[in-house]
Amino acid sequence: MTRKVTLLALLAALVLVLALAACGGGGGGETAAPPEDDAVAEAPPADDGSLHGDPEAGKAQFDTVCIACHGPGGVGIEGLGKPFTTSEFLLTVSDKELLTFIKTGRPISDPANTTGVDMPPKGGNPALTDEQLTDIIAYIRTLHE
Ligand code: HEC
Repeated sequence: MTRKVTLLALLAALVLVLALAACGGGGGGETAAPPEDDAVAEAPPADDGSLHGDPEAGKAQFDTVCIACHGPGGVGIEGLGKPFTTSEFLLTVSDKELLTFIKTGRPISDPANTTGVDMPPKGGNPALTDEQLTDIIAYIRTLHE
């Protein structure tokens, strides 16, 4: 009889410990605050909007994809792609916005389209990764006169 009681007491103690552990887990929800702190720590670069790509790697990509319409050094090609050297648009957008723009393109149907020529998403090369586009953006940033 006493053994049974001891066993029950042990079980009860075990349940209590588990319950406390679960509570601790709940408290862990509060310690989910550090990830929030991390998010805050990452926020400044996000706000700043610049992506810090590698302009040299970007030039290599640009010269295989974008150059077809935007010309060498982004001087533009009449009837194909706008120049980057004089682009007002490039002065007004952040790197992040530019990344979104390049991934979206600017079709003729877009009211913002000024040339009547499509800017295809990713310049028509869907294989370009965000990292490669970020490098291209860093390169484009060097072209404005
Ligand atoms: C098939 C031709 C073509 C290719 C390839 C191309 N673009 Fe374009 N791009 C255009 C055209 C056309 C426009 C202008 C659309 C308009 O009328 O507003 C444009 C506009 C842009 C603009 C906005 C310029 C401004 O002043 O408004 C950016 C930025 C741009 N392209 C980036 C790129 C990048 C980066 C690549 C390579 C990944 C690329 N383009 C490849 C045709 C092209």
